[in-house]
This record gives sequence, C-alpha cells and structure tokens, in this order.
Amino acid sequence: MADANSKIERGGVFSPVSTPAHDIQTVALFVLAIAGAIFVIVAGLLLFAAVRYRARAGDDAQEPAQVYGSNPIEFAWTVVPILIVFVLILVTARTIYSVQAAAKPSGAINVTVIGHQWWWEIRYPDLGIVTANELHVPVSDKRGSTPTFLRLESADVAHSFWVPRLAGKTDLIPNKHNDMWIEPHKAGTYLGQCAEFCGTEHALMLIRVVVHPPDEWQRWVAAQQQSASADTSVARGRQVMESNACVNCHVVRGTNANGRFGPDLTHLMSRGTIGAGAATNTLEHLKTWVEDPSVIKPGALMPAMNLRQEDLNDVVAYLATLR
Ligand code: CUA
Repeated sequence: MADANSKIERGGVFSPVSTPAHDIQTVALFVLAIAGAIFVIVAGLLLFAAVRYRARAGDDAQEPAQVYGSNPIEFAWTVVPILIVFVLILVTARTIYSVQAAAKPSGAINVTVIGHQWWWEIRYPDLGIVTANELHVPVSDKRGSTPTFLRLESADVAHSFWVPRLAGKTDLIPNKHNDMWIEPHKAGTYLGQCAEFCGTEHALMLIRVVVHPPDEWQRWVAAQQQSASADTSVARGRQVMESNACVNCHVVRGTNANGRFGPDLTHLMSRGTIGAGAATNTLEHLKTWVEDPSVIKPGALMPAMNLRQEDLNDVVAYLATLR
C-alpha cells in the first residue's frame, strides 16, 4: 500500500477527478462565463459612455435631453436578467440533483465516516473494516464504476469533510447523518481536510483518500480484514499496551483493547501518517506521539502516557508490528 500512499496528487477544485467534483466544476465554469460576459458588456458600455460623452472644451454646459419611461428599454432590462437567472436556476438545480440525489448502484462501496476532535473514524460496515484518517476506495474507470457512498456522522461537534478534487464539502453534524459520494477516475492519493472549525486542532484534522486500481483494492481489503499481527517477539510491548489506559480508547482486534474514543490501531502501520496527518508514520514519530502527543499536535485529546523508557520502547516495537 505504500506505493499508492506515496503518489500524492496535487491540485485543487479546478482539477476534479471524481464525478460530483466534475459536475460542480462544470456548473461553476458556466456561471462564471455568464457572469464574465455580463461584466464585460456592462463595464464596456460604461467605459464607452464615459469616454465618448466626457466633458469637452466648448460644450454648452447644458444637461443633455432626459429620457423617462422608455417601455422598450425597461422591458429589455427586466426580461433579459429574468431569463439569465432562470437558466442559472435550471442548470444549478440539475447539478444539485445529479450530485445529491444520485442513485446508489449495486456495486457501490458503503463507508461510514465519523468526525471526532480531531480525527476521522472510517468504517466499512459491509466489509468489517475499521480504520482512521485514510479512506481507501477503488477507482472507477473503463473497467467499471464503483463509487463510494459516505454516511457522515459526528461523535462530538460539527466537522466538514472536504477533499477538493473528489467532491464538494459536506458537514458532519452531531445526532444526524449526511450523505455524500465520490467516484474517482484516477488512482492516487488525494488530500483533504476538515473544513468546519471544530476546536483547537481543526487545522490538523487532515484526511487522505487513497484510490486503488481494482486488484490493489482487493489486496487492501483482504489485508485490513485480518486480525492484528500476533508477533510473539513483541509480547512484552503488547502486555504494556494491554495493562495501560491505551485499551480504553483504542481497538486492536484480538486484544483486550476495545475503546472507541481514539483510532483503531489494528493495522496502524498500513497508514502513511499519524495524528490525522499531523506527522508521517515513522517509528521516531510514533515514539514521540506515545510519549506525549502534544509535542506533535498541541491540544490532542490523547494524554501523555508517562511510560518508563523501557515500556515506551516496547510499546512502540509492538505498534510497529501492527501492519
Ligand atoms: Cu473537524 Cu474542523
């Protein structure tokens, strides 16, 4: 999976790679073109009038003839804007309908995304997979369409899911769910972030979407469905983890760690970053994180674990086996 993770695709809203983002760009450019044409016409007439009828030496200093109540002119500047606005309403409504009321095809992937302060819980209810901060989906190309439908929820405050190249923003609201979908046409890793202020670490609530070719997607699913590795050489680190508060907030499937407050760590090392994108997932960063998360992400709700150096090293060695 490291391959797909390392190919980060740059670009923003002007280079969409997913069906809803394309639709939104099309309507945005259409509206921009009409607004641009209106601007050019109005500014052009204004400029023409200002130059052509400017005060000149030898003018008689009289007001020009004043025209009131010209029916043709009143009619034109009422009807034309109404027609323009009507066209904009129709085009916009059609796009809203195609983006928000899209029927879910049978091959669609279902994902529940739950916003937390300050990370993303990602659950695949049909596949039995739980992960965090890095959403993996299959690509939709000429081999077939496999859009991903996201059910957005919040565990605490309002967040907003935004990956600019894939779709518009959608809020995650407590005690309610919102729906959105993506259909990426190009494999690669796309960056996004929480787009609704949600507290101290709002700015470090990053998300990445890894879009896989079909075979790579199948391998990712199979790997994530496995239980946590049970490497006996790191048994002591696992024991330290299981006898500390880690288990109250984290899940490692196959151990007594079954908390839901923090990210599922069963396949922690399959992720490219930790702390919702705050740092790359290296052993050095992991060690710093477990020792005191606020060094990397001030305000993070995970407390400093205050482990003895030996325990810290063993826990990190254990975490490093969770592939
Ligand atoms: Cu979550 Cu801002």
